[in-house]
Amino acid sequence: MSTINASVALTRHDSIAVITIDSPPVNALSHGVREGLVQAVAQAGQDSTVRAILIACAGTTFIAGADITEFGKPPKDPRISAVIAAIEDCPKPIIAAMHGTVLGGGLELALGCHYRVAAPATRLGLPEVNLGIIPGAGGTQRLPRVVGVERAIELITTASQLSAKQALEAGLVDALIDGDLVQGALQFARRVVDENKALLRVRDRDEHLVTARGNPALFEKARAAVARKSRGLTAPLAAIDAIEAAVNLPFEQGLQRERELVTAQVSSDQSKALRYFFFAERESAKIPGIQTGDVAKVQQAAVIGAGTMGGGIAMSLANAGVAVTLIDLNPEALERGLGIIRKNYENTARRGGMTESDVSARMALIRPSTKLADVSSAEVIVEAVFENTELKKSVFTEIDRHARADAILGTNTSTLDIDEIASATARPESVIGLHFFSPANVMKLLEVVRTGRTSESVVARAMALGRQMRKVPVLVGTCDGFVGNRILRARSKQAEQIIMQGGFPEQVDRVLQDFGFPMGVFAMGDMAGLDIGWRIRKERGLKSIVADKLCEMGRLGQKAGAGYFRYDPANPEGARAPIVDPIVNELILQASRDQNIERRDMDDVLIRERLLYPMINEAAKILEEGVALRAGDIDVIWIYGYGWPRHRGGPMHYADSIGLAKIRDRLREFERDHGDAFKPAALLERLADEGGTFAGHRTGALQATAAATAVAA
Ligand code: 3HC
Ligand code: NAI
Repeated sequence: MSTINASVALTRHDSIAVITIDSPPVNALSHGVREGLVQAVAQAGQDSTVRAILIACAGTTFIAGADITEFGKPPKDPRISAVIAAIEDCPKPIIAAMHGTVLGGGLELALGCHYRVAAPATRLGLPEVNLGIIPGAGGTQRLPRVVGVERAIELITTASQLSAKQALEAGLVDALIDGDLVQGALQFARRVVDENKALLRVRDRDEHLVTARGNPALFEKARAAVARKSRGLTAPLAAIDAIEAAVNLPFEQGLQRERELVTAQVSSDQSKALRYFFFAERESAKIPGIQTGDVAKVQQAAVIGAGTMGGGIAMSLANAGVAVTLIDLNPEALERGLGIIRKNYENTARRGGMTESDVSARMALIRPSTKLADVSSAEVIVEAVFENTELKKSVFTEIDRHARADAILGTNTSTLDIDEIASATARPESVIGLHFFSPANVMKLLEVVRTGRTSESVVARAMALGRQMRKVPVLVGTCDGFVGNRILRARSKQAEQIIMQGGFPEQVDRVLQDFGFPMGVFAMGDMAGLDIGWRIRKERGLKSIVADKLCEMGRLGQKAGAGYFRYDPANPEGARAPIVDPIVNELILQASRDQNIERRDMDDVLIRERLLYPMINEAAKILEEGVALRAGDIDVIWIYGYGWPRHRGGPMHYADSIGLAKIRDRLREFERDHGDAFKPAALLERLADEGGTFAGHRTGALQATAAATAVAA
C-alpha cells in the first residue's frame, strides 16, 4: 500500500492498481482528495506494469459530491474538472467501483471513468439543484450522452436518484457486483484488460445528442414544465440551458457554458440560502450537551386516539417498522380510524408506492384496542385525543398506572400546557411534546417539545424516534403555540388586518405565492376549515370580524364549497382551486366601513413586509426567550412544517439576508402607524445595532421553564 496523502491510497492487485479514497464522513471531493486523486492517477498511469485502475472508496459511500464546506471560498487547484480530465485522458482503463450514495461531483467523476460498476444498493444522482447550483464538473454534458437528453433533464432538474438497477438499465452502470465490491470490480477490470476492451470516453458519445438535435422543441417543453413546478427556483432552468449546450455545442464549449452557468448560480442568493439550509437541517439534529446518536431503535409503541392525527402517527410508526397499539375508547372511532389507515395504504399501493403485501404487513403492525391498559408494553406512547386539558390529564393519570417505567409519555397537543398535562403523572420527567403536523404520515416536521422537567434521555430518545420515522425532529421549549404555530399566528393576525385596511384575500395570497409559498393564508384557512379557528376563538373569547362572519354564513371553507374563496367542482383549474368571490370582497369592504377603517391601496411590497416582518419579530422573541436553540431550528421548522420556500432559507436566514437594521427600522415605522404590536424585539434591536445576524446568535440551551409568553393575541 502506498499512501498518496491523508485521504488517498494506492495499492496493487497483480496488474490492477486500486485507488482508495478514505475521507469521512462521505468522501466528498475536498482539496486533499482532489490532490491525492490526481497524483494517484498519474502514478498508476505511468507505471508500465499497471494495466487498469480501479477507483473505490472506504466507509459508507462512494464520493457523495463536492465538499460543500469549500463553496464560497477561493477555489484551490486541482479543480474537480481537472481531476476528471486526468481520469478521462488516462491511457489505461479506469473503472469506478461504487457503493452508497454516488452524488454530484461523485457521479460526475464516475462519468469521467471509462467503466462503472456498482453494489446493488447503490443510489446515483446529480442533486446540485437542491443546493441552488447545477452540476459543475461536466455532469450536464456527460449524463445526457449516456442516458439521453430527456432523462438527463428529468434527473438533474428534479435532483432525483436512480437505484443501481435503474442505472444499469439506463446504461449508466456497466455491471452490478454482488458480494465484495472491490473483489468483483477487480474481476471486471481483469476482463476489460484480457478482452482488450476499448477505452470508452463518455465525451466522445453522440448518439443521444443527435436525436435531441432533431427535436429542439423538447427544451421549451422542459422549461415550461420546470417553471410550473419549481416556483421561482433558477437552478433547474440553468441546468436545462447547460444540457441544451451539450446538444448544440462541441464538448469543450459545452463544458465552458456549464462553467459560466454554475459560476452565476453559486453566487446567487438562492444557492446561499439552500447551502445554509443544508447545514441548518443537519445542525438541528444536534443538541448541545445531549448525545443524540447512540439510541436503540423503538420496537413497540402505543398511540391513544384513532382520529385524524392518531391515525397518521400510527402510520408513521408502522412505516418505520414499529409495532403500534392504536387505542381509542370509542369502538366506532377506532374502526373508522383503522379503515382510513387501510384506505391510505391501499391508495399508495394503487399509485405504485407499495405492494399489496406491504399493505398487509403494515396493517399487521397496527393492533387496535379500546383499553388504555394496553399501553403496558410500549416504549413510546403518543397521546392524540381531543384537545382538552382535563381529558388529557385523565388519560395521562391512567397511562401512568400502566406504562413501563422507562416509557416515553408523549402528547401531540398543539396548544395546551404540557407541564400541566405532565403534572397528572408521577413521572413528569418522562413527559414530552411530540407535535406532529397534519397529515402526520406525510409531513416531515416533528416539533419535540421539552418541558422544564423532561429528562435528557427522554429528549435524546424522542429525537432518535423522529429520525427513525424519517421525520425532521426539532427540539423546542414550551410556550403558547410552540415555535411554528406561534409564528404562524403572527402572520395570520397581519393577514386579517391587511384585508380590513385595504388588501383583499386574493392579493395577500398571491404575494405569498409569488414569494414562493405553495399556498396563501386564506386558501390555507379554507383548506383546513374555517370552523377550527372559529371554535378556538369562541373558547378563548376572541373575535375575527371577517372570518366569524364567513362561518356564520356557513362558508366554512373548501369542504362547504365556499370560504374566503369559492370552489367549483367544474373549475378547469381544479376543484380545489380558489375562485375570487365578489360577495366576500363586498363583505370585507362593509366590515372596514363598520369599523371606521379608512382603506388605502397597498402594494405587494408593503403586503409582503407586513406579513413577513412581524413573523421575523416573533421569531426573534422566541430566540430571545430560548424557546428555540438556534435561528436555524426556526428555519427548519418553517420550511418543513409550513412551506416557507427553501430557496429563501427560512424566516431567520431571509431576515439576515435583508439586513436586521432594515427590518428593525421598517417595524418601527409600522409601530408608529399601527401600534405596539410591531415593537421590535429586544434581540432584534441589539443585533441590528451591532450589525449582527440571527445565524450568529446562539442561546446555548433551551429555557429551563415555560416562558409565560402569550402570543400577542
Ligand atoms: N460536503 C461536505 N460535507 C458533507 C457533504 C458534502 N457534499 N455531504 C454530507 N456532508 C456532511 C454533513 O454535513 C454531515 O456532517 P456532520 O456530521 O458534521 O453534520 C455528514 O457529512 C453526514 O451527512 P448526513 O447527516 O447528511 O448523513 P446521511 O448519511 O444522512 O446522508 C448523504 C449522506 C446522502 C451523502 C447526504 O449527506 C447528502 O445528500 N449530502 C449532499 C450530497 C450533495 O448534495 N452532493 C452534491 C454536492 S454539490 C457538487 O457535487 C457540485 C459538483 O457538481 C461540482
Ligand atoms: P380527532 O377528533 O380527529 O381525534 C381524537 C380521537 O381521540 C377520537 O377518535 C376520539 O374518539 C379519541 N378519544 C377521545 N377521548 C379519548 C380517550 N379518553 N381515550 C382514547 N381515545 C379518546 O382529533 P385530532 O385532530 O386527531 O387531534 C388530536 C390531537 O392532536 C389534539 O390534541 C390536537 O390538538 C392535536 N393536533 C391536531 C392537529 C390537526 O391538524 N388536526 C395538528 C397537530 C396536533
